[in-house]
Amino acid sequence: LTPKDLAGRHVLVTAGPTREYLDPVRFVSNPSSGKMGFAVAERAVARGALVTLVSGPVSLPAPSGVTLMNVESAVQMRDAAMSVFGAADLVVATAAVADYRAAEPSNEKQAKTQGDAVIHLVPNPDILAEMGASKERRVLVGFAMETHAGVERAAGKARRKNADFILLNYPAREGSGFGGDDNEVTLVRPSGESEAWPRMSKRAVAERLLTAALEAYIQRNSV
Ligand code: PMT
Repeated sequence: LTPKDLAGRHVLVTAGPTREYLDPVRFVSNPSSGKMGFAVAERAVARGALVTLVSGPVSLPAPSGVTLMNVESAVQMRDAAMSVFGAADLVVATAAVADYRAAEPSNEKQAKTQGDAVIHLVPNPDILAEMGASKERRVLVGFAMETHAGVERAAGKARRKNADFILLNYPAREGSGFGGDDNEVTLVRPSGESEAWPRMSKRAVAERLLTAALEAYIQRNSV
């Protein structure tokens, strides 16, 4: 029997990739499938939470009982996530948000020209950092994918974004990161303290991270 230890808590999850359109038929994106975030949403609902899942374009069915908000771009993801952030107790940011978008997306399909093409990109809002700036009672969990100096870089991200911890996963390692059903992660705290978890299903990672987030929430709010 699943314990309903998240009853009364509102969990906000971001998932999937974002798409940053250059013109009506082309975009910048990444291979996130949404599996990690959908697993978190599914387990949180099973444990009694009220769950809002803000997802970029993926081909997964919404877990039952979850409020799903579909978005495409990082700006849309920010707007949707911030519209429910006020009510959230735990936030789990699994989304692979594009860091940049086109400065001037074209309304018309751009014709091919001779020679090289140059695209002017501008930075997207950092959703997790924006939440971190007004965190208050909430616990914020991020993810990070790093090819090198993973723990240091993840700890730096946790500090900059004011996240309670970051789960570092490894793009070049089989059974970790984009697309598959498993993940191998290291929990990294802002202090740089870290704990490597063995490879397990994304569902099991979700379960374990929700337990760690709830512990942090209880500690912070003495509930
Ligand atoms: O969807 P799957 O196929 O299951 O794959 C899961 C995953 C590999 C996408 C996931 O486990 C993961 O690692 N997600 C984060 C990817 C990443 O590289 O994040 P980042 O280092 O760009 O960002 C760090 C954190 O800040 C993340 O929690 C991210 O959601 C958040 N962020 C980043 C940029 C931005 N503009 N806004 C954000 O909120």
